[in-house]
Amino acid sequence: MRKLAPNFKEKYGPWAVIAGASDGTGRAFTHRVAATGINCIIIARRGELLEELAEQIRSQHNVECVPAAIDLSTPDAFDKTVTAVGPREVGLFISNAGSDPNGSHFMDKDIQPWLDLVSRNVVTNMRCVHHFGSLMRQRRKGGLLLVGSAAGYGGSRFMAVYSATKAFVWCLAESLWSELRPHNVDVLYIALVATDTPFPAKAVGREGPETQKGIVTRRCGQQRTGKPRQRPGFRHAAPRRRPRKMATGTRRADQLPGSRRVRRMRSVRPQW
Ligand SMILES: NC(=O)c1ccc[n+]([C@@H]2O[C@H](COP(=O)([O-])OP(=O)(O)OC[C@H]3O[C@@H](n4cnc5c(N)ncnc54)[C@H](OP(=O)(O)O)[C@@H]3O)[C@@H](O)[C@H]2O)c1
Repeated sequence: MRKLAPNFKEKYGPWAVIAGASDGTGRAFTHRVAATGINCIIIARRGELLEELAEQIRSQHNVECVPAAIDLSTPDAFDKTVTAVGPREVGLFISNAGSDPNGSHFMDKDIQPWLDLVSRNVVTNMRCVHHFGSLMRQRRKGGLLLVGSAAGYGGSRFMAVYSATKAFVWCLAESLWSELRPHNVDVLYIALVATDTPFPAKAVGREGPETQKGIVTRRCGQQRTGKPRQRPGFRHAAPRRRPRKMATGTRRADQLPGSRRVRRMRSVRPQW
């Protein structure tokens, strides 16, 4: 694992907010950030998992950790987040909650689950980015880390709303990268591919451990009878523009930034 910059704490401390921290990559982010000496406010729905993680973070990394059980898809999620943070100075906002638990064609579900997905991935996310980003801009320091997905590079069946929300976050992040650069605020969008977190098992309604690779292979195979002919992940995506570099393969949730396989934000030059 690559080392973080020596001034990481000065630049992104004293507090970080990690939205979607109770398991998977969010949990790994929390450990990584806390190990640098930054205090953490951790958000997810399952309060008991957050309490347990907060305890672990305090004892292992000797920093403060505040758990906040909030459903980020609800209309008051942003207000609750701001209340949980209080007067603490947030130098790093990590938006990690965002996978799609539905695993369904768009028309095969009522509209409500899709509205919830948009509320969490777009509305609450954007409000948090606006709030924390504005304060960072005033202070002339800080960072916004938005976790995305390779699904955002193009439309894809079973992922219509999910891929659309990730495309939104991708464009938002690139634009803010350009706007906030002169103010010394960093913005990073990470497009993850198949990563072995607990979410894939939920997505197909199964209990117990199963690798993402197995599930994606099986899901692709469901589209036609016979053996799956598509490589897990992307082959069923519409052939739109491809990212210049794309990570491949299944990765463990703790292989996070610093890994060579993480796609960094491509540079944008302002046109004006
Ligand atoms: N795993 C993959 O293969 C993969 C691939 C591409 C991109 N990604 C991206 O990576 C990020 C993390 O994904 P993940 O696989 O760890 O799954 P996830 O289902 O997004 O879970 C991540 C965390 O978000 C929390 N969360 C989910 N919905 C929430 C809500 N409504 N309100 C508050 N917290 C919520 C979960 O905890 P609670 O259940 O306790 O709320 C969990 O701690 C997501 O942005 C996802 O889009 C993942």
